[in-house]
Amino acid sequence: MSSNLTPQESERLATLYRASVEKMKEVVREHKITEDELHIAGDYLNRLGAAGFSRSLVDMALALTSAEVTKPAGGTRGNLEGPLHRHGHILRADGRLLDRPLKDGETRLLLSGRVLNAQTGGPIDGTAIDMWQTDGHGIYDREGDELRGIVPTDDQGRYSIETVLPRFYSEHDNDPIGELLQAMGRPNCRAGHIHVKVLENGEERLTTQLFIEGSEYLDSDYVEGAVSDDLILSVTQTDDPRTVKASFDFRILPGGQN
Ligand SMILES: [Fe+2]
Repeated sequence: MSSNLTPQESERLATLYRASVEKMKEVVREHKITEDELHIAGDYLNRLGAAGFSRSLVDMALALTSAEVTKPAGGTRGNLEGPLHRHGHILRADGRLLDRPLKDGETRLLLSGRVLNAQTGGPIDGTAIDMWQTDGHGIYDREGDELRGIVPTDDQGRYSIETVLPRFYSEHDNDPIGELLQAMGRPNCRAGHIHVKVLENGEERLTTQLFIEGSEYLDSDYVEGAVSDDLILSVTQTDDPRTVKASFDFRILPGGQN
C-alpha cells in the first residue's frame, strides 16, 4: 500500500477500514473476546506476516467471496489459480496429459466437453484448455511436465483429454496457516481437483478448478467457497476397470474474463 494514494483511493481505504473495524467490533461484543485473546490474534498475525502467508490467509478466507461480488454473472464460475500454474505449458495436441503408465492406485480419467459462448451457447474459435493437476496420490510435478499441458479445441469447441483422477492433498503442513487450521480442528486439505485455464487465442479467459465427485474433503476443503456443485465432475465407470470418464462444458463470457 502506497502513502501516495489519490483522494478517491484514500477515501475508499478509510471507508473499508471503518467498515472492517465495525464488523470486528460486533464479533468482539458477540463473543466477549478478551484483550488477552486479541493479543494472541495479533501475535499470530505477526508470525503469519513474517512467514509470508498473510496473502494466503486472505485468499483462502475471502477471495472467492470477492470474485462472487465483483465478477460478471453468467458463465462457468471462476476459481483460484493457486501457486503452481506455469506459463508456457507444453502443447498436447492429442489431448494426452497422461504420457506415462498408470501408477499403482491411479485411475485414468477421460475428460471431454466443449468451450462455449455463455451468451449464445455456440462454440468459440481458437480456444484451448490449459490444465495442471496432481497425480493419483495428490502430488504435483513441480519441475517437469507431468499432468500439465495445453490442449486445443476443435472448430466446434470440443476437447478430449486423457489424464488421471487427481487426489486430495494437504497443504501448509508446516506453516502458520496449517497451524491455525489444526488448532481449530480443521483439516488443512484440498479436495481432489484439476486446475484449468480456458485460453482464447492465447489469452486467459477463465481460471477455474474442477472437483471430483466422491473426493474426500469436498465438504471441508480449507479454501472457503472453492467447492460448488457446478464445478464437481460426475464420473462414470467405463468397461476398463481402471478408466472412468466425465464431461464438462466451459461457458465463457464474451469480451472479458469469468
Ligand atoms: Fe491445486
